[in-house]
Amino acid sequence: MEHERLEPTAAEEERRKLARCLHDGLCQLLSGICLKAEKLERVVDQPTDDVKRELAAIQGLAREAMVEADRVVRGLRESPLEGGLFTTLLRWVDQWGSEHHTVVDRAFSGEDRVLLTEQQLAAYDIVREGLRNVGQHAHAQRVLLRLSAFKTGLHGRIVDDGVGFSNASLWGRSHFGLEGMRERAQLAGGWLSVRSRPGGGTQISFWLRAGREG
Ligand SMILES: Nc1ncnc2c1ncn2[C@@H]1O[C@H](COP(=O)(O)OP(=O)(O)OP(=O)(O)O)[C@@H](O)[C@H]1O
Ligand SMILES: [Mg+2]
Repeated sequence: MEHERLEPTAAEEERRKLARCLHDGLCQLLSGICLKAEKLERVVDQPTDDVKRELAAIQGLAREAMVEADRVVRGLRESPLEGGLFTTLLRWVDQWGSEHHTVVDRAFSGEDRVLLTEQQLAAYDIVREGLRNVGQHAHAQRVLLRLSAFKTGLHGRIVDDGVGFSNASLWGRSHFGLEGMRERAQLAGGWLSVRSRPGGGTQISFWLRAGREG
């Protein structure tokens, strides 16, 4: 599916800036070390085996460090939602389902690009925490995941047939997952509700409003 490039968020801009600094600073210095070590091997008059070995080791370490720095730069530049919300989530959800031996009945409809990047990131985080909770606590056989994008926003549902829990006692305290999901939804101009009872599975429903306020 062809997808428009998403507008970078402030956090993404920061990461890209850091990536540029690393690339232009650290990576260049490391490549300088490599070149100097190679040159030293050539200019030293009849180097002993020990010297050759140490120089080779320096070059090896510097190259390894370059590969590592390159990996970090690449990681910093990649947005978690490079292909858009639905495409990225489909991949994540299917991977999650096969790792947890859980059937995920998932259906996404509409255009995810009605949401701004930060709203897509909110949906991404909410769904992932919802499914992580299913994996950690629910002992479910099946999970239903529905995401429906409209011009006005995104509606989502995560329903599992697991052990459930009694609601009130578990909000807040040392558990931040559900609370964080609710905060994410509220910050994205929407809401999130949790319905659950022991033995009766858990249903999470949320709405994120599309576009800017006002
Ligand atoms: N799908 C679910 N099925 C059964 N119990 C759940 C489910 N989701 C949440 N719970 C219960 O609600 C509690 C709070 O969930 P929450 O995500 O806030 O915290 P947590 O998963 O325990 O810790 P974390 O802060 O790492 O997310 C869980 O400890 C669990 O008892
Ligand atoms: Mg959790």
